[in-house]
Amino acid sequence: MDATHDTGPRAVRPEADATASAPALLLRPWRVEDAAGVAEAYRDPALRRRASATVRDETEALRRLRTRHDGRETGERLAFAVLQARPDGGGEGRSAGHVVLKAPHGPEPEVGYWTAAPARGRGVAPRALGALTHWAFTALPEVTRLRLLHTAANTASCRVAERAGYGFEAELLPAPTEFPSEGHLHVRTVSGRAPA
Ligand SMILES: CC(C)(COP(=O)(O)OP(=O)(O)OC[C@H]1O[C@@H](n2cnc3c(N)ncnc32)[C@H](O)[C@@H]1OP(=O)(O)O)[C@@H](O)C(=O)NCCC(=O)NCCS
Repeated sequence: MDATHDTGPRAVRPEADATASAPALLLRPWRVEDAAGVAEAYRDPALRRRASATVRDETEALRRLRTRHDGRETGERLAFAVLQARPDGGGEGRSAGHVVLKAPHGPEPEVGYWTAAPARGRGVAPRALGALTHWAFTALPEVTRLRLLHTAANTASCRVAERAGYGFEAELLPAPTEFPSEGHLHVRTVSGRAPA
């Protein structure tokens, strides 16, 4: 399930071009050596508030990475580390965030993401999400429609969705305990933006 070791359509490597103010982004499967960086990212209260998992230290980060590895093995979740490309073109630089494709082989695949606090405000999430989306529609022919859910109060996430071409589709009522507050459903289809 490692996109970087496949041949055929899956070998398309998800990445995003540099912008005038931000480096290019490279996406690859998470590795155990990323644990320290994940633990550091989860020290941010905003990420802890929004994330579904609890990561309090490097041990828990390692456990999380093993879960991500298992999810990749079973095909239930395809998670990618998002890294800034080195300005000299010499490969991976600083870790910037995370994107995930949940249940890619099910009827309603869903995307998720976060950006590490120091990397925020430079379009990392919409660009990484755009790269993941392009990869999913290219490498996984059965994926033709992707869902994105966020809490209604998360206006930054709403912007990320819109900028990555996920049109607003519906307001969602709270559904405790997994979704205790109102949410938004955004959708992007393989043929273009979903109608608003
Ligand atoms: C939401 C998040 C992923 C955005 O990542 P990012 O890489 O900083 O994305 P951007 O740089 O494109 O910023 C997102 C947009 O939200 C805006 N924004 C940022 N913080 C905001 C805030 N507190 N309120 C409103 N808008 C905000 C930015 O100005 C930008 O809008 P623009 O495109 O109009 O300029 C990041 O803040 C994050 O990881 N938050 C914690 C985890 C999370 O919420 N994940 C999503 C769960 S659905």
